[in-house]
Amino acid sequence: MTKPSSLNSLEYDILIIGSGAAGLTLALRTADFAKVAVLSKGDLNQGATFYAQGGIAAVLDEDDSIDSHIEDTISAGVGLCHREMVEYVVENSAETVSWLVDQGVPFTTKSSDTGDSGKSDPQNQELSSLHLTQEGGHSHRRIIHATDATGKAVFEALQQRAQAHPNIDLIEGCTAVDVVTQATSEDSAASCVGAYILNQQLGEVQLINSKFVALATGGASKAYLYTTNPDGASGDGIAMAWRAGCRVANMEFNQFHPTCLFHPHAKSFLISEALRGEGATLELPDGTRFMQSFDDREELAPRDIVARAIDHEMKRLGCDCVYLNISHKPEAFVREHFPTIYTRCLEFGIDITKQRIPVVPAAHYTCGGIVVKQTGETDIRNLYAIGETSFTGLHGANRMASNSLLECFVIAFAAAADIQQRISTISHSTHIEQWDESRVTISHDEVLISHNWDELRRCMWDFVGIVRNNERLQRAQIRIKLLQQEVQDYYKKHRVTNDMLELRNLVLVSGLIIESAISRKESRGLHFTLDYPELSAEAQDTILEPDQEL
Ligand code: FAD
Ligand code: SIN
Repeated sequence: MTKPSSLNSLEYDILIIGSGAAGLTLALRTADFAKVAVLSKGDLNQGATFYAQGGIAAVLDEDDSIDSHIEDTISAGVGLCHREMVEYVVENSAETVSWLVDQGVPFTTKSSDTGDSGKSDPQNQELSSLHLTQEGGHSHRRIIHATDATGKAVFEALQQRAQAHPNIDLIEGCTAVDVVTQATSEDSAASCVGAYILNQQLGEVQLINSKFVALATGGASKAYLYTTNPDGASGDGIAMAWRAGCRVANMEFNQFHPTCLFHPHAKSFLISEALRGEGATLELPDGTRFMQSFDDREELAPRDIVARAIDHEMKRLGCDCVYLNISHKPEAFVREHFPTIYTRCLEFGIDITKQRIPVVPAAHYTCGGIVVKQTGETDIRNLYAIGETSFTGLHGANRMASNSLLECFVIAFAAAADIQQRISTISHSTHIEQWDESRVTISHDEVLISHNWDELRRCMWDFVGIVRNNERLQRAQIRIKLLQQEVQDYYKKHRVTNDMLELRNLVLVSGLIIESAISRKESRGLHFTLDYPELSAEAQDTILEPDQEL
């Protein structure tokens, strides 16, 4: 694999920032006609994709229908999904799943699920043979999966393909600092011409000149103290796009997953919604089930409803967690369907075939993001955004389970087709300024960064969480503005580091979240505020313009 020290070139046709489902798919769909670099600021597998558990939603069962998947998505999104985008993504679900099978993703099949065969043979998988599981909000079994480690299976298959492709350079340990834009000669509109990259091994910022740049940087759930996400989920793409002049939408809709393992040593470990899909129940400490008091769909209500119900019960009873119970299912079934979760919980002394799992909600998914068209194009020419960093209109006020990976694939396909059409008309920029470090010094005060990280994440958790109100949001806004000033001062004076860049991005994105939350005067989906508990008759996106004062 290409290591940062041997970055092969500083000129590419397409620079893809992010090596998760979105970035790798775009790379594989463009590499036959373009020279492509895929960057990751950490190891290649450090995005959320690698940790995805439940699966990918797709209409494959003959009793299911495209219409049903569309209506479920729109209903989970509480009136804010863009119907044409939902239709587009759902209608293309089978094609992308078929492609994933061709790439060698070892999805669980019906026969492997019933124990008839050990591992599935990816090359011989008929789509109708794939096992379908169930998750919240879906009125039908329609989630394809690779047991309970779908993201790892997808990532490994795509990475292997990308690694073998002569036109793809996979580059680890390089953090994009900012994209570079220039006004074009024909008109005054800005075009993206490359990006500045911190090469962590060299400790230098380098310029990559590129005809197209795609942001595939994942979400921003690291803004919260407790999250299911890996450390790099610091909203870098959203912050870079905002600084470059793109619009950002619906940032108030932060999804909290209802069931993250509650254990002092288990950092961020998710307990998949697929457990509830296969019959697990949510219980209070005394064993009473409670979801029936909140929604007719009980444990399979959409996530916003389940997370809020748990939050309500924990606050009402003053308890530290609730419990998820699948111990009534046969042991072999549980171990076969959920081998990763079974093993991980056992490491913490919890045998899920016999004991209940202590769980709490945690920040999980960023429904808002960079405003893009169906092709992934942003407001800036030649700059694309795909995957969790983008806002396509698919998810509305609450993403339905397993629609996120699907969106990564479908929009990456569309972006690749669009780039293929346009690439012959684009040339590299002939003059871009190099990164200037003449006025900065090395910082000897890293504690300023770590302190501000902690303060930011605690503030967001306490004041901008599952249940909000005006007073808390305003307090958060005052504190975040102060942090933004401090971080900006620090950034101007010091050489950049990965931690500093992430904090700079996260503090900016937190400001966008709060601004969006304050401007929504209703409760809808994931945004619930005690000051405006009702749903407005009219559903409207919150769109922030880059020239507006925050
Ligand atoms: P990611 O996979 O997050 O990848 C981001 C990439 O960008 C990484 O390579 C990172 O290193 C890189 N990056 C970020 N910033 C920079 C920078 N400045 N410079 C260079 N590189 C950068 N969704 C589903 O549909 N089904 C599921 O079952 C499911 N389960 C989930 C379970 C967990 C625990 C989590 C956390 C999420 C889950 N999701 C699931 C959500 C889904 O996994 C993510 O939304 C999706 O994987 C995002 O993919 P992505 O390609 O957009 O970004
Ligand atoms: C899960 O497995 O519960 C996560 C699914 C998702 O986030 O879509």
